[in-house]
Amino acid sequence: MARLKTIDWVDNRVRLIDQTLLPDDIRYIDITDIDGMYEAIKVLRVRGAPAIGVAAAFGLYLGVRGFSGGSVNEFLKFVDDRAAYLASARPTAVNLFWALDRMKKFVHTQAESSTDIDTLKKHLLDEAIRIFEEDKRMCRAIGEHGFELIKDKNCVLTHCNAGGLATSGLGTALAPIYVGQERGIVFRIFADETRPLLQGARITALELSEAGIPVTVICDNMAASVMASGQIKACIVGADRIAESGDTANKIGTYSVAIAAAYHKIPFYVAAPSSTFDLKIKSGIDIPIEERGREEVAIFGGAKKTVPDKAEAFNPSFDVTPSELITAIITEKGVIYPPYTVNIAKMMC
Ligand code: MRU
Repeated sequence: MARLKTIDWVDNRVRLIDQTLLPDDIRYIDITDIDGMYEAIKVLRVRGAPAIGVAAAFGLYLGVRGFSGGSVNEFLKFVDDRAAYLASARPTAVNLFWALDRMKKFVHTQAESSTDIDTLKKHLLDEAIRIFEEDKRMCRAIGEHGFELIKDKNCVLTHCNAGGLATSGLGTALAPIYVGQERGIVFRIFADETRPLLQGARITALELSEAGIPVTVICDNMAASVMASGQIKACIVGADRIAESGDTANKIGTYSVAIAAAYHKIPFYVAAPSSTFDLKIKSGIDIPIEERGREEVAIFGGAKKTVPDKAEAFNPSFDVTPSELITAIITEKGVIYPPYTVNIAKMMC
């Protein structure tokens, strides 16, 4: 079966899989305006840091393409305003801000030599398409570097979904697995279910099983025990934001996986493109962590109440894994090893 296409630009609109409906309903929806894109990012119809960046870039173009009647300066102010709106959809994945900043900078620079607003709009669309295409290439390169690192590790544990459905291409954490498959190497994957929104069970298990890769879903609280059984040879996860120190924000529960991996002396790898690094942030403590609604924890699968009404529920969507628990960070430019502050700066300069 062909790989599921997370996001695409078709007939002047964005087409994406509504990931809230997975795994039993694979439905594509078309987004034609910025409000639709804001909502899609906020409620996780499109999700995963790189895919959010690509979606936001297209969303910004959708938001400004109807602008009419003003000066170039007014147009640029409008672009900045619409970008700020999209940036408020989710706080943790830095790819959202990275993509919007890149779009803004590009159009401001173009406006120094072009005063035609239609041309500037076209430049914005072209830049969004470049971000989309680059994302695919970055995934491929992460896959190649990551494969070299894990090719003798036949059984890998991952958390959340950092696969094709989180990007425009092969994914980040799952890209080495797909590259292995192309080369005839079959990895067995344990996918943490990833409470509360079950991205591991619903999304990772879907894309891997559709691709013919053996995948076993476990509840999050089983990971340490499966590691103790000796089956897991490596852990690979994605990232939403990596600080200068290498501290990494990723889906809630990643930190526990890293602690358990360190205890069991299992290598713990983070896979992420350079667009996920935020070198303005020194350490993980400064990474903003999204807190989502009570109902995601209190109502299982949106259907079954599991927490009494009088009890509170806390729902941080991400956690930060300290860099000392990370064996290496796999990027499209190569693999980064500790000491991270020095080596991230070298690789990303
Ligand atoms: O809340 P989500 O589903 O957007 O969280 C996704 C993750 O935490 C991923 O691991 C991360 O964005 C990396 S995706 C390549």
